[in-house]
Amino acid sequence: MSVNQYAISHWPDTDELIAKAQRLVNSPPRPIRRDKMKEYLDFFETRCKKSKVATAEAAKYIPGGVQHNLAFNHPFPLSISKAEGAYLWDIDGNRYIDFLQAGGPTVLGSNYEPLREKIIEVLRDSGPVTGLFHEYEVELAKLIHRLMPAVEMFRMLGSGSEAAMAAIRAARNFTGKKKIIKVGGAYHGWSDQLVFGTRIPGTGAYEAAGIPEGCLQHTQEFFPNDIDGEQGLRALLEQNRGAEGTAAVILEPVGPESATRPVHRDFNARVRDLCDEFEALLIFDEVVTAFRLGLGGAQGYFGVKPDLTLFGKCVAGGYPAAGGVGGRADVMSTFSAGIGSGGQKTLVGGTLSANPLSCAAGYYAILEMERTDAPVRAGQAADKLTRGLQAIIDELALPFFVYNHGSILHLETHGVLLLDTTDPDFFTKVAERKGIAEEMGAAYTAEGIITLAGSRLYTSMADTDEVVEEALAGFARVLGSVEGLS
Ligand SMILES: Cc1ncc(COP(=O)(O)O)c(C=O)c1O
Repeated sequence: MSVNQYAISHWPDTDELIAKAQRLVNSPPRPIRRDKMKEYLDFFETRCKKSKVATAEAAKYIPGGVQHNLAFNHPFPLSISKAEGAYLWDIDGNRYIDFLQAGGPTVLGSNYEPLREKIIEVLRDSGPVTGLFHEYEVELAKLIHRLMPAVEMFRMLGSGSEAAMAAIRAARNFTGKKKIIKVGGAYHGWSDQLVFGTRIPGTGAYEAAGIPEGCLQHTQEFFPNDIDGEQGLRALLEQNRGAEGTAAVILEPVGPESATRPVHRDFNARVRDLCDEFEALLIFDEVVTAFRLGLGGAQGYFGVKPDLTLFGKCVAGGYPAAGGVGGRADVMSTFSAGIGSGGQKTLVGGTLSANPLSCAAGYYAILEMERTDAPVRAGQAADKLTRGLQAIIDELALPFFVYNHGSILHLETHGVLLLDTTDPDFFTKVAERKGIAEEMGAAYTAEGIITLAGSRLYTSMADTDEVVEEALAGFARVLGSVEGLS
């Protein structure tokens, strides 16, 4: 696969998507018919008995019964015992098409055998960790640099959240400025200073329970696509110029929450220009997009060079400890390393950072993605799925909509994350539409399809035409059972 090939076959019309989102949230919600929903919930009671017992036991020892926010838990979480390619199996033996793909890292498909064999070799030789240097650290860093030349140096960490923490700290250390501006609705992990304006633009500190106000005093948000508005990016940069200055602007390049709020094609380039004008660093959060959208990442697709890039997910090929930050050598050189680090260095670390297992997994997974053209193939599967889903929606004349940027697909049926915080009924609508989202997710699951929170899907190279056809038949049954259809 060429570095210049990307999974996005065409850029969806952003204004049209925004208009469709508006229509969806202004339309009355369309839940699944009660009789049909009862049937779907019966699936869990009758066919998922072992999962029910296992996860009820888990709820006694694990808060909420699951350790991960991706684990789907309506009416109760499933206990997964096997994963392979496009499929997952639960402990009751039910098979599902896997459009969660662990939240994004497995573009080759789940539990990809050639990668697994390599990892077993590494484990046999060095075990998972020694704490000392291993050649896979530099192999991975060199490979990333070859594919994304803006990443002159790379620091491996344990997660995307850590990468975001490290990047904003380095940006402040390097620039001597304080403010961090993010795009409302974007998720950059759960660190104290970035739980601000998460999921829905304009929500500010709404989700920041347990975080002292002071931690958020230098974090600001602007609405997606709002460059020149009264509270847009330019206005914030101007406002900060007089005070403590803007250290960095951080964004997800396809739009917040993996394009739940899509941005215009030229958004990133415009932000780059403003960062240059105001001497702020530009941080691309490519935790989802790096390698998934193509080997050159979103930065290659858009032709925009960030100062720093956040990595997660694919950077460890779907194996644990997936995180890292990379970018300009002068900024990256502020990071501490080893025991000789001085007081002016940006302190980062991690006992298990850059272990041979994670680095080798990332290295071989990315090479294999290059060899097999996996990002483009995953994108083609999502294109087919989008076309098929759109045909179902049109046929049923539903107010729903579907779109994809390569292998990141959104099927919007409830619009909970599209609601407007200035609506006086915002919280009532969030509660109502969240309930519908949970039911949708449960219905897809009962039809043998796992999604991310009932509205986002990640495809992989393993999604053949046959898988897509099977999924479309399941989606057609669910969408055909919403209320109000004759
Ligand atoms: C865009 C983005 N940034 C950062 C993160 C945080 O990564 P992690 O879950 O590895 O901490 C995520 C996780 O989903 C993400 O989607």
